[in-house]
Amino acid sequence: MNKYFVSVFVMVFSIFGMNAQELKSPNGNFKMIFALENDGTPTYQLFMKDREVIKKSKLGLELQKDKKSLLNDFTLVNEVRNTFDETWKTVWGEETEIRNHYNELALTLKQNETERQVIIRFRLFNDGLGFRYEFPEQKNLTYFVVKEERTEFAMTGDHTAFWIPGDYDTQEYDFTESKLTEIRGLFKKAVTDNASQKQFSDTGVQTSLILKTSEGIYINIHEAALINYSCMHLNLDDKNLVFQSHLTPDAKGNKGYLQAPSVSPWRTIIASSDARAILASRMTLNLNEPCKIEDTSWIKPVKYIGVWWEMITGKSSWAYTDEIPSVQLGITDFTKAKPNGKHAANTKHVKDHIDFAAEHGFDAVLVEGWNEGWEDWFGHEKDYVFDFVTPYPDFDVKEIHEYAKSKGVKMIMHHETSGSTRNYERHLDKAYQFMKDNGYDAVKSGYVGNILPLGEHHYSQSIINHYQYCIEKAVDYQIMVNAHEAVRPTGICRTYPNLIGNESARGTEFQAFGGSKANHTTLLPFTRLIGGPMDYTPGIFEMDIAKLNPNNNSHVNTTLANQLGLYVVMYSPLQMAADLPENYNRFLDAFQFIKDVPVEWSASKYLEAEPGYYITIARKDKNSSNWFVGNSNGYSSRTSTITLDFLEKGKKYEATIYADAADADYKTNPQAYKISKQKVTNKTKLQLRTAAGGGYAISIVEVK
Ligand code: NOJ
Ligand code: CA
Repeated sequence: MNKYFVSVFVMVFSIFGMNAQELKSPNGNFKMIFALENDGTPTYQLFMKDREVIKKSKLGLELQKDKKSLLNDFTLVNEVRNTFDETWKTVWGEETEIRNHYNELALTLKQNETERQVIIRFRLFNDGLGFRYEFPEQKNLTYFVVKEERTEFAMTGDHTAFWIPGDYDTQEYDFTESKLTEIRGLFKKAVTDNASQKQFSDTGVQTSLILKTSEGIYINIHEAALINYSCMHLNLDDKNLVFQSHLTPDAKGNKGYLQAPSVSPWRTIIASSDARAILASRMTLNLNEPCKIEDTSWIKPVKYIGVWWEMITGKSSWAYTDEIPSVQLGITDFTKAKPNGKHAANTKHVKDHIDFAAEHGFDAVLVEGWNEGWEDWFGHEKDYVFDFVTPYPDFDVKEIHEYAKSKGVKMIMHHETSGSTRNYERHLDKAYQFMKDNGYDAVKSGYVGNILPLGEHHYSQSIINHYQYCIEKAVDYQIMVNAHEAVRPTGICRTYPNLIGNESARGTEFQAFGGSKANHTTLLPFTRLIGGPMDYTPGIFEMDIAKLNPNNNSHVNTTLANQLGLYVVMYSPLQMAADLPENYNRFLDAFQFIKDVPVEWSASKYLEAEPGYYITIARKDKNSSNWFVGNSNGYSSRTSTITLDFLEKGKKYEATIYADAADADYKTNPQAYKISKQKVTNKTKLQLRTAAGGGYAISIVEVK
């Protein structure tokens, strides 16, 4: 169904004496009205079935002082309308095909005094609105510096928001649920509870933001195709309930260096009265360019284990020696250095993991702490810490490569950049080549700590360009990238599907750093995952972290059954079984679900959803007729009721249900689960009790 037709006409009509343009979504449910104020300020307004979703909101950009800002004094000089309808094939995703269907309105505005032109392009889909600024090539606007983007999202009421504090360097926060007017009062608590670095205002929040109105409309605000621009946060004017865009500054406080012709990222508003439709929306992907990689045959979803959780919990160490700079330790040659006795990335231990992966059908093993530099890095801001090619003496790259190959297991590389983007770029070609030479096709990279050069932020324009550079260079080497602490994704994985993962939110690691809120994973799919998959690293079976490291009293705030449900709820083409093999060996019956659950899907159905409270999703395996269902539940125990009407009519299946036991509770009894089997068809209704912080997982296998 590839239809593409364009119609161009100019239609200017008058509402209340102002010039206004109207755009409707293909099904007519959404309506966007663009208007110029009397002083030539552009505005837009969004309606869903005649109900206002976004009140009249201003558009524009403030430029650095040598330029007249692009805020007002505009006249509409041209208008182009398009309709677009295509269905594209995913390389990987929640389904094999995605429909991209919208009506478009591109308005050329001319600033009277400067004669500069800006195009505002709106795309209205059946699930929401995207718009962006475009700066065509022109005499009077060539190079310019953005002081601030002045896009507004005016709320229609004091909605409920699930928010994390605005921060230029991290998204690794728990969410706070509050009314918009309560954000200011709760802000400090939200910051001190978490590992934040810098906030710009007491009402600044991050996208992707999920809101719920008192009438039960769900609104998601985010951005798509964040390329060569800085990341957008939202600053709430809490008197008027208007969110204003706030771009991440660079070391000089500037927000972006642009050169016409260029475009901004898309600003996105997804809205529905059904929360499940927010999860089903593919607008963010659709607003990104089609895949730019010609041959994608090397891009493959991966289920993996790792030498990782033991370091995160503090049971083992990344460094080979004490965590003291090597100069201080007098080390010039690591083979002569004194090992600390806790180094996990050693050949024997890695081989044991390869054996475990091979035995249980995992594709790959990630190993962190394999390379020199960790001892130098801890607590230090150093431009040059890692070279990404020099292993510690107890990690035999060649031997591990050969062993993994003989077992049919892939190795996943780890590059902790220590936040030094310049150092990473300096080494990138050599580092990627080293991977190829040693059988690695995927890298987990990370950006812990302050960005170097100092003063730059994780989300400023030049650092966003760095992440993009690493993704695009990886294409040359046929390497898949999973970047942690990088900017939160904005659908770029459609264009570069070798970006198979990102962290960019509070992942499972925080369960070992004091714990996360029990409803965290009922929010991530409504927020962080709107832009792309997350390497959340589920699968923790031992919730009492002191059992791994007596000095760590963290508790994993979910039940074991919830951990299983996450393999379906938290879509990712890259799924880790994060716990230690010894913990899986204790619960092999539950582990079976992690072994069975696929990482490639052909279809997804959103069965139940309420942000902050519960999510139930069913997905169909891409390579069989089997289905898998996952549920994640929030703080209150609840009965989930689902109908298996997605199963094929007339076929018989056997369901294996991994559920919370009657007495399960995330705090007091997280490992209480029960496994049952039953025959099911597309008529079957299931009622499953989920514990507080609980959930369930079901595998549904066709009986032939
Ligand atoms: C933070 C990442 O999120 C984590 O997965 C990684 O192990 C550490 N950084 C070390 O690089
Ligand atoms: Ca992290």
